[in-house]
Parts: sequence; structure tokens; C-alpha cells
Amino acid sequence: MTNPFVIAIDGPAAAGKGTLALRLADHYHLPHLDTGLLYRAVGRIMAERGFDLDDGELAGQIAAALDPDDLKHPSLRGHEAGEHASRVAVHPQVRAALIAFQRDFAGRAPGAVLDGRDIGTAICPQAPVKIYVTASPEVRARRRTDELAAKGRDVDYERILAEIRQRDERDSGRSTAPLKPAEDAVILDTSDLDREGAFTAAIAIVDDKWRAR
Ligand code: DC
Repeated sequence: MTNPFVIAIDGPAAAGKGTLALRLADHYHLPHLDTGLLYRAVGRIMAERGFDLDDGELAGQIAAALDPDDLKHPSLRGHEAGEHASRVAVHPQVRAALIAFQRDFAGRAPGAVLDGRDIGTAICPQAPVKIYVTASPEVRARRRTDELAAKGRDVDYERILAEIRQRDERDSGRSTAPLKPAEDAVILDTSDLDREGAFTAAIAIVDDKWRAR
């Protein structure tokens, strides 16, 4: 039996990995897991119960007891949930507790698309396809600002840019499974690409790896 065809998509906040991962999953008829939701769910439960987000032991226990239904909460997509997620994601106890769920998802035939920060480096180091999706902080901040403005939100580009920089620093600077491209990842810089261009480039990367299998 061939190994499951896992497509690992990593990259910083607001680089467009989520949209790309969804489209790839649809194109290749594979299930998709947005792993950020796991960290978001842990952060939400911690904040909702008034727990200290810096308490790694407690956050680890919440992560270990996570229910798949916890991933469906509508508030998880919001900005604040992203901040809470990034804070609980620094704890090794949290990361360790979430490994089995992700590997189990990735291990089912015929394969899967997973997007996050450490899929190619820590969760699925054997994945045949690893794409590191990135864009300059300015481009990501512009996209995020436009996205929020389109939803009628009152947003400030400079503030969003500062938050993106801060999030990059926290995600890349943590000691356990920091955000960084795997050595064998293909870097997809979408700074000068629109969604369609990013999708076309990603398909070319995946097809190439598929043929080389
Ligand atoms: O991709 P996202 O914005 O939903 O992720 C929110 C936070 O969760 C991110 O800032 C860091 C953390 N995260 C992580 O540490 N590892 C992952 N595989 C996915 C997300």
C-alpha cells in the first residue's frame, strides 16, 4: 500500500494558507484540517474560563481533553482567538497533546491537506509535499485590512501590521516547533500573486511532487 499523500502547508499569519489549503483539498479530493483551529479552541476555552493563558500545565490539560466539536465554535475565526491561540501554542504541553489528533488525521488513506505552522517540520516530517506559503508583512497586513474592511469593520492598517509582526515573532521565536520552513519545503511567496496565481503555483508544486513519487 502506498503511504497517504499528505500535503503540508505552513506559513505565517495572513499569508493565505487557509484559502489555499481548502482549494487544494477540493482539487485533489482530500480531507482538510486547519490545525490553527486546535490552538484557537484551546485558547478560547482558557480565556472563557478565566484561566491564565501562560499556564502551560493547565493549557495542556485543556488540549488533551479537546473535543472535535470544540473546533466548530463560530468565534474561533476571530482576531482575538488568533492571539489567544498564538499564546497557548508556545507551551510544549499543548503541542504534545495535539500531535496524535493531527497525525491520525494525516495518516488516513488516501491522504490529507493540513495547514498550520509546524506540519512539515514536526507533525508530518515525511509528507511528500511541503509548501511554505509566505508574503511580506506589509502585503499580509494590507490583505487582512481589506478583508476586515470588506466586512464593515473599522480597521487601521498600521495596527494590523504591528500585530502581524508581533505574531510572527511569537510564532517563530518559541522554542517548541517554531514557525520555519522545513528543509525540503518549497517556498511559495505570494506577495506578487493573487489568489488564482497562488493556487496555480501550488498545483504545479503538488503535481510535480506527485509525479516524482
Ligand atoms: O493559522 P491560525 O491563524 O489559525 O493560527 C493561530 C495561532 O495558532 C498561530 O498564531 C500559532 C498557532 N498555531 C501553531 O502554533 N501551530 C499550528 N500548526 C497552527 C497554529
